[in-house]
Amino acid sequence: MTRRIAELLRAGQPDETVTIQGWVRTKREQKGFSFIEVNDGSSMGGLQVVINQDVPDYEENLKRISTGASVEVSGVLVPSPGKGQRIELKASSVKVYGEADPETYPLQKKRHSFEFLREIGHLRSRTNTLGAVFRVRNACATAIHQFFQERGFLWVHTPVITASDAEGAGEMFAVTSLNLKNVPLNEQKEIDYAQDFFGKPAYLTVSGQLEAEIMAMAFSNVYTFGPTFRAENSNTSRHLAEFWMVEPEMAFCDLDGDMDLAEAFLKYIFSYVMEHCPEDMEFFNARIDDSVLATAENIINNQFERITYTKAIELLEKADKKFEYPVEWGLDLQSEHERYLAEDLFKKPTIVTDYPTQIKAFYMRLSDDEKTVRAMDILAPKIGEIIGGSQREERLDVLERRIVQQGLDPATYWWYLDLRRYGTVPHAGFGLGFERLVQFMTGMANIRDVIPFPRTPQNVEF
Ligand code: 4AD
Ligand code: MG
Repeated sequence: MTRRIAELLRAGQPDETVTIQGWVRTKREQKGFSFIEVNDGSSMGGLQVVINQDVPDYEENLKRISTGASVEVSGVLVPSPGKGQRIELKASSVKVYGEADPETYPLQKKRHSFEFLREIGHLRSRTNTLGAVFRVRNACATAIHQFFQERGFLWVHTPVITASDAEGAGEMFAVTSLNLKNVPLNEQKEIDYAQDFFGKPAYLTVSGQLEAEIMAMAFSNVYTFGPTFRAENSNTSRHLAEFWMVEPEMAFCDLDGDMDLAEAFLKYIFSYVMEHCPEDMEFFNARIDDSVLATAENIINNQFERITYTKAIELLEKADKKFEYPVEWGLDLQSEHERYLAEDLFKKPTIVTDYPTQIKAFYMRLSDDEKTVRAMDILAPKIGEIIGGSQREERLDVLERRIVQQGLDPATYWWYLDLRRYGTVPHAGFGLGFERLVQFMTGMANIRDVIPFPRTPQNVEF
């Protein structure tokens, strides 16, 4: 049976006979033998393989092996006399599956820029950095499920295609099977959606929240974790057109309970990753951002800061820092403001609550003075907003009023309003941007480098 290299590096013993499969990272030819380093993606480190010239087909195999070639090696593990590894594999047979022509294979030994690697999105996962990113991403996803499952949350699957705008911001991609070269029109010369696949306009979802609320009204505590889509034309290092979001929703819960859960949640994920990916985290700290390990410790061990939006505005007005965007009660916080609070002032994640009503979504619970809603954003150093959440408006009359005020059509939200008609309860939830979490965890500067296949304006190649 083929063994994974991570497992051999950790637990492989001298004299064990093993077979490995993977891709060659480096080859060094000596007189009478050669070293190759083989990586199978299971860990940052590869396994050093020694091939003596008496191994069958030595000359022919060596000609075919170069960086990027795929191989299978069988042999026996021996203690390694070399530096940096405990064991190595003494080959008894080598099979080359596929060559990688050194003249054209773009991933040679030198370090490549992340911009260049994005142009070879089909190959970049074979590099050290992207390999570490996607292992950490996997560990984050595992931690998320484990956290919620331990607490009795039901994992629900909310739809990708939807007819309603969950954020009311109109940033949705349309889904249609109409022939765009010959769109059917009705008598008013408008698009005749009756002839479209769903019989009415449909979109890719911007959030699973509204459907998660439906499920929370049956199962009390639920979460959804899936792709979401935003057609906002934001070309930044923190925005994707397709990103993954984790959205828990809790019945019988207020904003304090929501913040407590979010804080425990982030601490749990960081602890899990530190425990399960220590080698990758060390790598990020050494090569990408030397504050990665300190940040993780900080998250795990310190309480998050909690302040109101009104207080945040006061602090920003007092700041001895020049901001590009204006600071004024009623305006949304820009990422420079968010970063000032979390990075410069508090130096830890900061939860800002009670934002002005007019800058937040229709579903957030209105406070008694009606000037603010029970919203909370968690701001992370270097990233800015990483979580957005709120207590939801559970009062039918207030919600109807808010939908109309925001210029939305109550008719399309009839089932959402029904939840307030039948057995309504105070409830709350939040959304964690999964890629922003992975950025925060790894110190990666650009969000396009923490998702295998980034979708951004003008970019959908791989
Ligand atoms: O703040 P947002 O828009 O909140 C919601 O969608 C709520 N329905 C969530 C809820 O309460 N269930 O988005 C939540 C998070 C943001 O804090 C951010 O981390 C991330 O999603 N996010 C993005 N990540 C990458 N690219 C984008 N374009 C993003 N837009 C939001
Ligand atoms: Mg938000």
